[in-house]
Parts: sequence; structure tokens; C-alpha cells
Amino acid sequence: MTVQLTVNGQVLKLDVDPSTPLLYVLRNDAMINSAKYGCGAGQCGACAVLMDDQVVLSCTLPVSSAKGNIKTLESYEGDRTLNALNKAFIAEQAVQCGYCISGMMIRAKTLLDKNKHPSVQQIKDTLQGHLCRCGTHTRIIKAIQRAAQELA
Ligand code: FES
Repeated sequence: MTVQLTVNGQVLKLDVDPSTPLLYVLRNDAMINSAKYGCGAGQCGACAVLMDDQVVLSCTLPVSSAKGNIKTLESYEGDRTLNALNKAFIAEQAVQCGYCISGMMIRAKTLLDKNKHPSVQQIKDTLQGHLCRCGTHTRIIKAIQRAAQELA
């Protein structure tokens, strides 16, 4: 089946099995590295990307159901919020292994796009479905607060 996807503004036409998870297509065909395979079951958030500005877990979404504009962390230079998050995560040294961070930043963008003054609790609630095995949670929260300050 030929599937047409728009990924970070680029239109792609791909010949793939329609049941293939979007994550596989992004990584194997669209050369996206940011979204990661963590659990493959919608439980960890490592594969989170945006579909028309809504977070989707690309490991469980069949590519045939992917519609609209897919946005990944690779687009950060052209996105004020992702750019601020990127700088803040570096400044706060919030990344250890980094495996979960793309999903965290994608999710955090959806918070900061509607709330420039999130409380710590709101940040925690937003990241509820995202697991970090390295334990950098405190720095991740500080990084999101730092990005919020820049954006406010
Ligand atoms: Fe998709 Fe874990 S890899 S939620």
C-alpha cells in the first residue's frame, strides 16, 4: 500500500504494509532518529511525536491511521517552543542516556504551548506517561521551567 505522510513539512510517499507502526516508518523510512522504541506497547512515551499538534504514541499507531502533519524533535530549529526546550535541557544537563528525552520534549511542548507558567505539579502531570530510567526527573522539571521562563 502506498501511504503519504507529511513529516516535518516534507511529503513522503512510501510503499509499506498499512499495519506497520508509524514509529517503524519514521525511523526506517523517514530517517527520524529522535522518536525511540522503548516498550512498543504505549507504556513509556519514548516514541511520542505530534500529529496535528496532538501527542501520539507512534509505536502503537498503524501508519495507515497517521494523518495530517507529523512533527518530531528534528524540527526544533523551526519551532520556538522546541528550541527553548532544547536549550534548557542542555543548560540544566537534564539528559543522561537521552533515550526518553525526545518524547519528554514533545510532550512538554504541548504544555508550554498553552501554559507559559506551569506549576511543578502541572509539569509532573503532563509527563505522567513518560518514563526515565536514569532518574533525571528533577533536572527535567527544571529544564521545562527554564524553557517556560524563556517563552513567557
Ligand atoms: Fe511507544 Fe513505549 S515505545 S510508548
